[in-house]
Amino acid sequence: MSQINVETPTNLIRFNPDKLTQEAIDVLRSIFDKSGYNNTVCLPCPGGGSLLGEPARIVRFLQGHENCWKRSPQSGLYRHLFQLKKGNSPLVLFDLFWLNKQLPFSQLKDVLSDDSVHLLREASILSIQNDTVRAKVRCYPLYGKYFFFDPNWEQQDFVYMGWDSRLLVDVTASYTKGQHFNRVLDLCTGSGIQGLSLSAKSNEVFCADINPRAIQFVQANAKINGITNVQGITSDAFSNTPGNYDLIMANTPYVPGDGGELPIVGGDLGIEFTLRLIEQIPDKITDQGMAILYTSDPIVNGKRRLLEKVKKQLGKYPFQLTLIPLFRVNYPQTIPMMQHYDRLNLSGYDDCILIIQHATKFETRRRSWDWMYYQRTCFDSWLDWKKRSKQK
Ligand SMILES: C[S@@+](CC[C@H](N)C(=O)[O-])C[C@H]1O[C@@H](n2cnc3c(N)ncnc32)[C@H](O)[C@@H]1O
Repeated sequence: MSQINVETPTNLIRFNPDKLTQEAIDVLRSIFDKSGYNNTVCLPCPGGGSLLGEPARIVRFLQGHENCWKRSPQSGLYRHLFQLKKGNSPLVLFDLFWLNKQLPFSQLKDVLSDDSVHLLREASILSIQNDTVRAKVRCYPLYGKYFFFDPNWEQQDFVYMGWDSRLLVDVTASYTKGQHFNRVLDLCTGSGIQGLSLSAKSNEVFCADINPRAIQFVQANAKINGITNVQGITSDAFSNTPGNYDLIMANTPYVPGDGGELPIVGGDLGIEFTLRLIEQIPDKITDQGMAILYTSDPIVNGKRRLLEKVKKQLGKYPFQLTLIPLFRVNYPQTIPMMQHYDRLNLSGYDDCILIIQHATKFETRRRSWDWMYYQRTCFDSWLDWKKRSKQK
């Protein structure tokens, strides 16, 4: 493939949603659709030392289910098998738009024409340097839609997407089956993946985030997927969101930490931001409304603490709280984070989803999502904790 203009360093850095044209969207969608980019989600990323999850990954791979949020030391083998079945084109797109690799032009020749490369470069989706090309966004294919998000965390206002985002989409779909909403709010929206995924089940969707770049991504992702009933709002929690909602979803910042720059830290224990939201939930959901919050359940002095704290806030209301533990997160690896955990007697936390619904009296219940997976991660993190206790 011929070489196309070299870009300036600033242009190389980031995707600029304002430059996204309909023509570029049409070209990119057609390339993704034609190559079967969505099939690549069954490929794990390279890395990861543990083979504990390998049997589950192999089964998912053979069934064409998702592995792309996981790492495997055997990722090369999966690629090889995938190539035999689906050819090389989707793998090139996987390298570009999932692994965010810098590729030589020569590798693109069967997938992108020179004209397409030029168009995608003009739309600030690809960056070109010498004989190599790299994507400025990562792109996640989900249920026929494509979602852009920032490829790395280098800049403070990066737009995040992760395995948690994916889980929240599925849990929400399962707990709202058969329902249609008038007004939905996706708070802490990031790329907008939750709100946009629910747009067909709602008259109006509001996607709100404190990060203005996230709102630009929501608009870009709405355009990519031809969605027109979604509005983006820059807002610190509920400060700028109008009215109340039949459904509020939030993938909150929920990781424990003392400050930190990244938009995923939710406070000392991780749940302080969530508790701030919960305080306002009774006023923000309609009479039939519900809230689905992705958050964490910190384990302090050996006990999970989320429900007891939420009960203090909502105990006086007739609400049913459903807690769905998803997986346990390992003890941290950096010294400052270990010190932070030790200071708070925090031994870890569960990633979990909390559903708040109207009921006749206050009640709490636990439900499981993927019981086997949850138990495996608990075992994994217990092993990790033992190993680290010995090292102390
Ligand atoms: C864990 S990310 C979730 C992003 C997205 N919903 C997803 O699942 O991919 C948390 C999001 O909360 C946003 N956020 C952090 N503090 C916030 C605040 N005070 N008000 C609104 N949004 C906030 C961050 O900018 C980030 O986009």
